[in-house]
Amino acid sequence: MNFRRVFILLALTPLFAAAQWRSVGVVEATSKSGTNEVQLQSQGTTLTITVLADDVIRVRFQTSPNEAPPHSWAVVKTDWDGGSAQINESGTNLSVETAELNLLINKKPLRLVFQDKNGNVINQDDPGLGMCYEGSEVRVWKSMPQDERYYGFGEKAGRFLKREVALTMWNSDIPGYSADTDPLYQSIPFFLGTRKGKAYGIFLDNTWRSSFDIGKSSRKRYSFGAEGGDLDYYFFYGPSPKKIITRFTELVGRMPLPPKWALGFQQSRWSYPSETRVREIARGFRSRKIPCDVIYLDIDYMDGYRIFTWNSKSFPNPSKLVGDLGADGFKTVVIVDPGIKVDSSYSAFRSGMQLGCFLKKADGTLYTGKVWPGVCAFPDFANSTAREWWGGQFAGLVAAGVRGFWTDMNEPSVFDVPLKTVDLDILHKGDGDSAPHAEIHNVYGLEMTRATYEGILKLRPDERPFVLTRASYAGGPRYAASWTGDNVATWEHLKMALTMCLGMSISGQPFTGADIGGFIGHPSGELFARWLQLGVFTPLMRAHSQINEPNKEPWEYGAAFTDINRQTINLRYRFLPYIYTTMARASVDGIPPMRPMMLEFPDDESLAENDDEFMFGPDLLVAPVLAEGKNSRTVRLPAGEWYDYWSAKKYTGKTSVTVDAPVGRIPVFVRAGAIIPTQQVMQSSGEAPVDPLTLQAFPPSEGQQYTSEYYEDDGISLQYEQGNYFKRTYTLSAAASSISLLMGAVDGAYKPHPRRVQAQIRGVTLPPTSVMVGGQRLERSDQPEAGARTPQWNFDAVARLINVTFPDTKQAVQIDMRF
Ligand code: GLC
Repeated sequence: MNFRRVFILLALTPLFAAAQWRSVGVVEATSKSGTNEVQLQSQGTTLTITVLADDVIRVRFQTSPNEAPPHSWAVVKTDWDGGSAQINESGTNLSVETAELNLLINKKPLRLVFQDKNGNVINQDDPGLGMCYEGSEVRVWKSMPQDERYYGFGEKAGRFLKREVALTMWNSDIPGYSADTDPLYQSIPFFLGTRKGKAYGIFLDNTWRSSFDIGKSSRKRYSFGAEGGDLDYYFFYGPSPKKIITRFTELVGRMPLPPKWALGFQQSRWSYPSETRVREIARGFRSRKIPCDVIYLDIDYMDGYRIFTWNSKSFPNPSKLVGDLGADGFKTVVIVDPGIKVDSSYSAFRSGMQLGCFLKKADGTLYTGKVWPGVCAFPDFANSTAREWWGGQFAGLVAAGVRGFWTDMNEPSVFDVPLKTVDLDILHKGDGDSAPHAEIHNVYGLEMTRATYEGILKLRPDERPFVLTRASYAGGPRYAASWTGDNVATWEHLKMALTMCLGMSISGQPFTGADIGGFIGHPSGELFARWLQLGVFTPLMRAHSQINEPNKEPWEYGAAFTDINRQTINLRYRFLPYIYTTMARASVDGIPPMRPMMLEFPDDESLAENDDEFMFGPDLLVAPVLAEGKNSRTVRLPAGEWYDYWSAKKYTGKTSVTVDAPVGRIPVFVRAGAIIPTQQVMQSSGEAPVDPLTLQAFPPSEGQQYTSEYYEDDGISLQYEQGNYFKRTYTLSAAASSISLLMGAVDGAYKPHPRRVQAQIRGVTLPPTSVMVGGQRLERSDQPEAGARTPQWNFDAVARLINVTFPDTKQAVQIDMRF
């Protein structure tokens, strides 16, 4: 047991009690280790500066220097090469220079100044306060330029831009939260600062309750710190914000590619109470031809809320139900909460007790708290034995065919106690050093998803697990997608669904979504329809509802809205090849599908605070309608040229345009030059084969060319890790009287079902005089034979498009159209 931690716990002050800060003073001694690390001692404190890469520096301020380094729950990459760091000492200053930035360390008093290679200050400690400590608390104050903007901080309600706000990191179950509720369910202590088009990032790797005061108590400085542990942060330099996200996600890990079905439409509610109702819902989708991939079972599928059990009356034959749903194209996802009912006749409780997997009080007795099942024990997810035990509990559900798991209430939420969670002094055993709940709280959800993900993978080693979580910490996407908890059916919450998903995306969690239609309350048909439209462009597209609300399935709002909602979900399935490609990209470089405008266009000041439109992937600009009664929407277009996706009308950017947005349509624009791979509408993502694969091509201006990428694999196994994927680039170019499309040779071993490619050139007013595919001239066929395998082309004057259709192969193919 660690005595410093006990001391910290005793010293824990009530939330934000005014601390008498001690500012770190003059450096008394310095020592270098290797070429990339230096330690500075001052009044019993130690500051360690470690260069991990030319653009990543770790700053670790310890007030208790002799302690062994604490374990990081977030960081997965530790073998950094240190870049080209050089550490020089001269008089009262020390400088750490890398190829991309310089860090000046003033020694009297100790203050840090990060500069770019031209000597411009990127970020600096506040000259007055700098790094401070008081009791167990640590904090740093930084200068706050008037024109600096802040983004990120994980799951935060309200505006996307964060200034003049105080934010806390403490995982909390807050149903029906509002724009100014803070904290919420998960903690990602990471943010970006941007100024004059240049960005830096900071990740505070501290799991204690931490807080960020971004200009709330002072307009001149901001601060961040925690109630215990070290002030241990990573500084990333861009200047592009994308580079920072790539680096941050390299440090804490990225989302593995999810199963493709998890990107289809998902239907949930608390609860579909019986097998009969679940079958009715499945029929509801199929009979109305509304696509859907997933049906969720909320807490009532269980026997008295006992996790890993079924209610034998309402779900008498789970394998049969799940099997029948599977045959109809539905995957079944079930909820699991951490609270295990204290009941000696319940096998999960008994086995967990036998192996000592539950949290205990200091006197060795079981810690219990109330959740849905009544009095519960809580697994100690910080401990590997408990994680393995938990992972093994899924065997029955997996054998019944359940393929996805929804980890909820894992802040953890405890009913009827003032703190709404486990007592802060309860010790987690960990795997060596024990730690109080105050230190583990923010990673309890993360470790629950880890136990779940690893357990599922062990049970089905050839399939990608799907886990959806409410609580997590930095690095959480390694194990789970997440959603924004118990929101409300209001227009304000629709706006927040967007800003919160953008905030999560830019904080390293690309796989995110909000309960479509709102969890609490009943949306109008219009609100539901608009929410569903936004959902097409959130990676997680899940409709959900609280108990005791009227039905909220997409057909519950009258015939006209049923048609609109069907078209909306169809659109999701049409875009699935593009969506899947963007997810594959995020799994490789961390750049999320949902990209705030400032991420994609960091130099455009007019977009820096825009949080009602966004890029989905590199090429779609989405401008959802977020207010009631609107039939049009104004959209700010960035520089370049843009096509209205619906009309193929072309616009020149750096301007605002107003477009029609009747209730059935969400405004979407496409970057000129882009190719958006789309497929035929299907009822679930697993349907095959899909023919043709339609490449919607939006020609660039004369003399321009643009390259897009396409990714595909079997959508379910892990074989893509061994090269079993299908990846190619498309380059679209335009000259005075021609348009060319080069499909690059396929990289990877994956063989899709035999199919045709339909290159669909949009926004063209005249038919071409000749079309060549792979050097061969094709005849025009205006009555194309459905499914014909011979290459052909046609022109549609009304829709203003050219279709060129030919069999897909793995070779490079050049298509030339002359006008
Ligand atoms: C929590 C979840 C919600 C779920 C309910 C019942 O409120 O956030 O999504 O439906 O618990 O399990």
